[in-house]
Amino acid sequence: MSDRTPKRIAAGNWKMNGLSAELAEAEALAAAFPAPAASVLLCPPATLLAPMAQALAGSAIGLGGQDCHAAEKGAHTGDIAALMLADAGAGHVILGHSERRAHHGETDAQVAAKLRAAWAAGLTGIVCLGETAAERAAGRTLEVVGAQLAGSLPPGATAANTVIAYEPVWAIGSGQTPTPEEIVEVHAFLRQNAPDPAISLLYGGSVNPGNAAQIFAIAGVDGALVGGASLKAVDFGAIVTALLAA
Ligand code: 13P
Repeated sequence: MSDRTPKRIAAGNWKMNGLSAELAEAEALAAAFPAPAASVLLCPPATLLAPMAQALAGSAIGLGGQDCHAAEKGAHTGDIAALMLADAGAGHVILGHSERRAHHGETDAQVAAKLRAAWAAGLTGIVCLGETAAERAAGRTLEVVGAQLAGSLPPGATAANTVIAYEPVWAIGSGQTPTPEEIVEVHAFLRQNAPDPAISLLYGGSVNPGNAAQIFAIAGVDGALVGGASLKAVDFGAIVTALLAA
């Protein structure tokens, strides 16, 4: 890419939420943003990828998966391959979300292997990292985030294939967010240590229509990875609008 400015991105992580009826939210979002000037994507559960690709057809809103296996295909019951995500219409995949690190024991090395698989399928990986409340209280935030960054990104990570999302574990779904100073500190650290200065650095954790503008005004924040507030077009739309105005 010749443009060396990090792309502004609003990505919605639906997690394990969404049945066919909720495709109406994607349709409403597509209608509201036919051509947004920032990258907007929805990452629904795997069952909704293909129908959501249809719902978003003709809009500028992209699609992402929430995880992929490191292998290309094979005997991995219940898992999903990066190529399957791409085949269903995804251009991105979230990797190493703290819920997968905590509930499925994903390690940095596994996240790196998944990212390689995502690249091989032509997907951009959105790699999540962030400290727990205990790690922050112990003054270990940069150490933890630095180790995750070093371990989760294999050589070859560039702005064309990788996005980084800083998601403090304690801020996810809690209604709590770090102070602007705390976000500035981590994002500056990530910027210094990211392999490509044009990689987008997203903030995630309790972003909502009420705090989005304030968060997007923070130096070094290129966008957001949004959970709960991405489920409703009216809420996520307000966040996208805040990003476009930032
Ligand atoms: P919430 O926006 O619901 O706090 O979730 C953030 C998140 O985990 C996005 O990946």
